[in-house]
Amino acid sequence: MKTQVVIVGAGPSGLLLGHLLRAAGVDCVVVERQAPDYVLGRIRAGVLETVTTDLMTRLGLDARLKAEGLVEEGFNLATADHLIRIDIKALTGKHVTVYGQTEVTRDLMDAAAERGLRVIYEAKDLALHDIDGDAPFVTYTRDGAQHRIDTQFIAGCDGFHGPSRKAIPAGAVREFEREYPFGWLGILADVPPCHPELIYANTDKGFALASMRSLTRSRYYVQVPLTDRVENWSEERLWDELAERFDPLSDHKVTRGPALEMSIAPLRSYVFETMRHGRLFLAGDSAHIVPPTGAKGLNLAASDVAYLSDALIAWFARGDETGLTGYQARALARIWKAERFSWYLTKLMHRFPEDGAFEHRMQTAELDYVATSRAMQTAIAENYVGLPL
Ligand code: FAD
Ligand code: DHB
Repeated sequence: MKTQVVIVGAGPSGLLLGHLLRAAGVDCVVVERQAPDYVLGRIRAGVLETVTTDLMTRLGLDARLKAEGLVEEGFNLATADHLIRIDIKALTGKHVTVYGQTEVTRDLMDAAAERGLRVIYEAKDLALHDIDGDAPFVTYTRDGAQHRIDTQFIAGCDGFHGPSRKAIPAGAVREFEREYPFGWLGILADVPPCHPELIYANTDKGFALASMRSLTRSRYYVQVPLTDRVENWSEERLWDELAERFDPLSDHKVTRGPALEMSIAPLRSYVFETMRHGRLFLAGDSAHIVPPTGAKGLNLAASDVAYLSDALIAWFARGDETGLTGYQARALARIWKAERFSWYLTKLMHRFPEDGAFEHRMQTAELDYVATSRAMQTAIAENYVGLPL
């Protein structure tokens, strides 16, 4: 098979890129290791910036997002016993939208066939070849048969564990990493949220987040040690923990219900600066990870894809190479600012095991300052809604 762009990975970055290229008449094929149901079964991000929702609008794929997404004009930072509301609408004129990553992915998947976007699922053993030359190709196996796709460019949208980043020779690599000594234990349940807006809380027992997917579906997280396992937590124990952390902040509105999903995600900051090598371009989690505090992961994937699709479209339309040459620097400028914000909110809102009473006083003083300073609130709000493209 031959195409203009092979996209590795059918997560949100791969599918968004595929649709943007198809809408401009660029031929591309998305190759995904998993089956569609597996991709849709991963419960991840929940808060979308306008950068992300605008891309769905540009593609004409925002009908369900507009109908079912919840427009959020504020969110809350909290100490153990009081809320600090960040009025993002008043401070920035913008809002964010609560609409799950699963739903974005489903909308993009459902529209693929009618938009002529080819997606090959269950492609195993994918390997990238000749990325340094003008004629790269990928190989994979499917149903026991070996396949090859010849292409002009490869977009590595295959997440943190995919093969694209690993195909770049070690000598060319610049990477930066920070691991955190805790993870987030999440629960999804069909119960009404305890508060109309998100609450990020720094409580005596550690960080906790009250989020939602709709007015009848809640998503909660609590900070747990890295060594913890989901098997150590019964649903009952987690609801007890959530009630303890959120009842004082929500007027005892934590409603319990059976878990649709429970899992632990580790927290990490990671940037792989070599986002271009020859004919390979990386986008989304394949090039960077943020700790989830701040909800930036999926939104950064969307901004990478906005830059990369513009660059590839200009190249195929007019032979204009400036976008491709500038892609890495343009993407990294936004990525590093989102890394900074996610790192800042993580430091501010979590209990670090190595921290003592002094560091805790620093957090308390900073939250007190945020509570009383419009300048601080504005800085937080403009990062939360997403910096401009
Ligand atoms: P992914 O969604 O990882 O998609 C990559 C795709 O590539 C996958 O479908 C994968 O199967 C495929 N792939 C991998 N290897 C191969 C291969 N060999 N061949 C072909 N295909 C391959 N962000 C937030 O903002 N808020 C959150 O609450 C949040 N929670 C998260 C929880 C977890 C456990 C994780 C891992 C991430 C979370 N994120 C969150 C981050 C957010 O989900 C990601 O930033 C987003 O998924 C990035 O999209 P992506 O398309 O770049 O990567
Ligand atoms: C959700 C996850 C986040 O990391 C965040 O900052 C806000 C919301 C969520 O899953 O709903």
